[in-house]
Amino acid sequence: MLGTVMSFLRCIRAALGIWQIQSRVRIETSVVLPQVCSACGFVRWKNTAANCTRGVDYQSPNTRSRHMTVGVLAGTGAVLAYGLYRQQVQQAEPEGNAESARLTPSALGNEVQTSYPIYTRQDVTKHKTMADGIWVTYKSGVYDITNFVDLHPGGKKIMLAAGGAVEPFWAMYAIHNEEHVYQLLEEYKIGELNPEDQKQAILDVTDPYGNDPLRHPVLKVNSFKPFNAEPPLEILSENYLTPNEIFFKRNHLPVPEVDPRKFSLEIVGEGMKSIQLTLQDIKTKFPKHTVTATLQCAGNRRSEMNAVRQVKGLNWGMAAIGNATWSGVKLSDVLKYAGLPEDTDVKHVQFEGLDKDLSGSHYGASISIRKALAKDGDVLLAYEMNGEDLSRDHGFPLRVIVPGVVGARNVKWLSKIIISKEESKSHWQVNDYKGFSPSVDWDTVDFSTAPAIQELPIQSAITTPCNGDSLSSDDDEVTVKGYAWSGGGREVIRVDVSLDGGETWQVAKLTGEKQDEGRAWAWKLWELTVPLPKGQKNLEIICKAVDNNYNVQPDTVAPIWNLRGVLNNSWSRVKVTIKSPNRD
Ligand code: MTE
Repeated sequence: MLGTVMSFLRCIRAALGIWQIQSRVRIETSVVLPQVCSACGFVRWKNTAANCTRGVDYQSPNTRSRHMTVGVLAGTGAVLAYGLYRQQVQQAEPEGNAESARLTPSALGNEVQTSYPIYTRQDVTKHKTMADGIWVTYKSGVYDITNFVDLHPGGKKIMLAAGGAVEPFWAMYAIHNEEHVYQLLEEYKIGELNPEDQKQAILDVTDPYGNDPLRHPVLKVNSFKPFNAEPPLEILSENYLTPNEIFFKRNHLPVPEVDPRKFSLEIVGEGMKSIQLTLQDIKTKFPKHTVTATLQCAGNRRSEMNAVRQVKGLNWGMAAIGNATWSGVKLSDVLKYAGLPEDTDVKHVQFEGLDKDLSGSHYGASISIRKALAKDGDVLLAYEMNGEDLSRDHGFPLRVIVPGVVGARNVKWLSKIIISKEESKSHWQVNDYKGFSPSVDWDTVDFSTAPAIQELPIQSAITTPCNGDSLSSDDDEVTVKGYAWSGGGREVIRVDVSLDGGETWQVAKLTGEKQDEGRAWAWKLWELTVPLPKGQKNLEIICKAVDNNYNVQPDTVAPIWNLRGVLNNSWSRVKVTIKSPNRD
């Protein structure tokens, strides 16, 4: 079995041609158990532990596109079928230019009795404001979503679709391609779209993700479009430096394709001359620096918050975190070169990526000027990750690395730096990636009342064994492994592990690079081998870390639950069973 697995993995390696990883960052292949889905041919990661497969949809791009094709065909069928019924459509009380139908096609192309009025696309375009009502179309339906605008989890972005078809936006934000979203939309249905206009909507749909790069098949995919994925836990803790291919990928938009010869970085700011730097300029005009730093998404371990109460966001497990060496130039050197005065009173450095949505808004974020200029802040404009050029998913050709700070501010595909008295106005700075009290819900939340997340709190998690694993009672010992990290350069000084649900604790052995005080940007891996408690059928294994400011993790999720599911740093808990191989 192992031999088959190994040769299968070698095939994957050869196919992707990506296995030039140095020995110190090599993936230990012996734990990989890939399966090929019989339905779609996509490789999925097989793990017996519930924790390791939790909530992950392994649908392949092919399956997704098959579904979309079926959807489009169904829509086309509806258009054709409707032609047959057109003569039967009866005129009724018109609203604007609307005709009313007694018979209209269903989404499946069958004739259904309906009293929905028929609207032209022109009718729909007149409804773009709250005053006129917000109308959208989806396939053959017309929907008045005026009352939903304030409830939309993605905020005011919904207004981009006002007066038109939602398909191009749902192609961009594929999180909408879910049954419950279709059902919700149905509640707002007010009419049917004129069949001639439906054809137009179908033609308009192109796939903005069509040019995304190939990814390693071992990744557990949280969403394909945009692409968001994390590695299996056991692989994560095998390497101090996370291999680039399996490093978690967090994209909000399609991955831009950048020609490095044409790339240029623009730097503008109050009281400064604006300048442009080519990639060559960046690589040759400034000294190269390398920093080992851990990057963690604010949503890491969100699935544990979901288990308490549903939150909005991707269902990340415990591996939306990784550790790498990043090489590039110091942001402070570049800003000095660009003429930023030393006594500047600006407060923020804003970053813009090349990835943009349909309205042309780019991904953006900002950090404080204090962090940007601090001698020991180590903020980089990085062009290498683990000694290789950045890959497209990780921001090729240039990204910001802000050690100790939440992943969201580490802007990829960096194209513009703005020195400003104000924070970035980006949605992800202002209306996302903020923490709230458990009492705040989507009806009461006011994003302006909370600061944008910057430094992250103390964190640790158990990577081995996985939740739901079975241990053999024949084993004398169990080895527990995991990672620990704290934001702001605070060093992890201890990890405590309990095998009895927190009654008693033992201190784990930490490994990792020695880093300077206040600059402990990299995680520590930890391990503890202890005798397997005899005569027990179940164990609850827990870990908690302590940093050099004696910050500790909270013991449960509920008191830190928040509606966006960010900042989960509660004690990591894993339940395992102990089985006798002969009897059970
Ligand atoms: N930068 C751009 N331009 N676009 C993005 O979607 N995602 C951010 C950040 N930088 C993002 C971005 C988030 S939320 C995270 S957690 C990190 O990138 C993830 O970096 P990675 O994909 O290299 O792991």
